Amino acid sequence: MSEPTPINEETVNEAVDAALKAISEASTSSELKAARSAHTGETSPLARLNGMLRSVPNDQKAALGKLVGGARGRVNKALAAREGEVLVAEETAKLASEAVDVTAVASRYRAGARHPLNLLMEHMSDIFVGMGWEVAEGPELENEWFNFDSLNFDEDHPARAMQDTFFIDPVESHLVLRTHTSPVQIRSLLTRDLPVYVVAPGRVFRTDELDATHTPVFHQLEGIAIDKGLTMAHLRGTLEHLARSLFGEGAQIRLRPNFFPFTEPSAEMDVWQPNAKGGARWIEWGGCGMVNGNVLRAAGIDPDEYQGFAFGMGIERTLQFRNEMNDMRDMVEGDIRFSQQFGMAV
Ligand code: DAH
Repeated sequence: MSEPTPINEETVNEAVDAALKAISEASTSSELKAARSAHTGETSPLARLNGMLRSVPNDQKAALGKLVGGARGRVNKALAAREGEVLVAEETAKLASEAVDVTAVASRYRAGARHPLNLLMEHMSDIFVGMGWEVAEGPELENEWFNFDSLNFDEDHPARAMQDTFFIDPVESHLVLRTHTSPVQIRSLLTRDLPVYVVAPGRVFRTDELDATHTPVFHQLEGIAIDKGLTMAHLRGTLEHLARSLFGEGAQIRLRPNFFPFTEPSAEMDVWQPNAKGGARWIEWGGCGMVNGNVLRAAGIDPDEYQGFAFGMGIERTLQFRNEMNDMRDMVEGDIRFSQQFGMAV
C-alpha cells in the first residue's frame, strides 16, 4: 500500500491562505512579484502539491486534481486583481509626486540689465545700419601709427599732445590705449573694398580725472564714408538724419570751422536739441570734416579719385545731454539703480 497522499483540503487551503495573505499584503509591484514567485513558482507549496498529483491513485486523481487546480486558479485570480490595484496605486503616487503647482509663485532670477551707454551706442549704430552702413571694430590697445601717424598727426604736431595719451611701456613698443575711435577709419579702409561706409563704436582712453563731465575711459562713435563725389552736403545730411533719429524731427546740425589733422576742412558740430527740458538749445556734439588727402594716401587710396567725410562723437556726452544727466560719474559707478531709471528689468 502506498502512503496516503499529502494532497487534501487542509494542505491545499493552507497553501492558498498563505498565498492570498501574501498577495493582499503586497503593496508594490516588486513585493507582488516576490509573492508570485513564492506562491506560484516551481518551489511553492501549491506547485509541489500539483507535482504530487502524478503519484496519486487513479480513482482519486480527478477529485484531487480539481482541488489543486481550483486552488491555483484562485491564487492566480487574486494575483491578477492585486496587480491591477498596485499598478493604479503606483501610477497615482507617481502623478502626485510629479505634480506641478501652476499657481505657485516662481522664484525670480536676477538677470542683469544692459547698460544705458551700450544701449545708446547700439541704437546709434543701428541708425547707420538702417542707411546701409557697416559696423566695424578695432583694438583698444592700438598701434601709435594707427592712432596718430596714419591720421596725419606729425611727429611733433601739437595735436598729438592735445589728446592726453596713455602710452604703454616700453615706449619702443609704440602702443597706446587708443585716444579715439578714429584709427578704425584707417583699419576699415585697409581691409575693405571701396566704397566704404562704416561706423565704429567703442571704448577710448585719456588721462583725464574722473569728474562730472570727464571720465578716463569713455566711448565714441566714429563714422567714415569714402566714395566718388562725396561732399560736405552728404556729411551734413548724414549727421542731420542721426540727430533727427535721436532728438526728434526738429533737430538740426550746425557746423563751425575747427581743426583736426585728419580732416580738411574740419568742423565742430553742434546739434539743435528741440526737446531739451530747459528749452530748445544748441549743444556741442563732436568733430567732423572731409577726410584729409594724406589719410587717404596712408590707406593707399588716390584722393583725386575718391573723397569722403568722417565724424566722431562721445557716447557719454550724448547720453548726458539727451537724458539731462548732471553727473557723468553716475554712468561708471555700476549702481544698478542708475540703469533702472532707464526702464531696465533687473
Ligand atoms: N577723433 C576726434 C576726437 O576724439 C573726433 C573726430 C573729429 C573724429 C573729426 C572724426 C573727425 O572722424 O572727422 O576728438
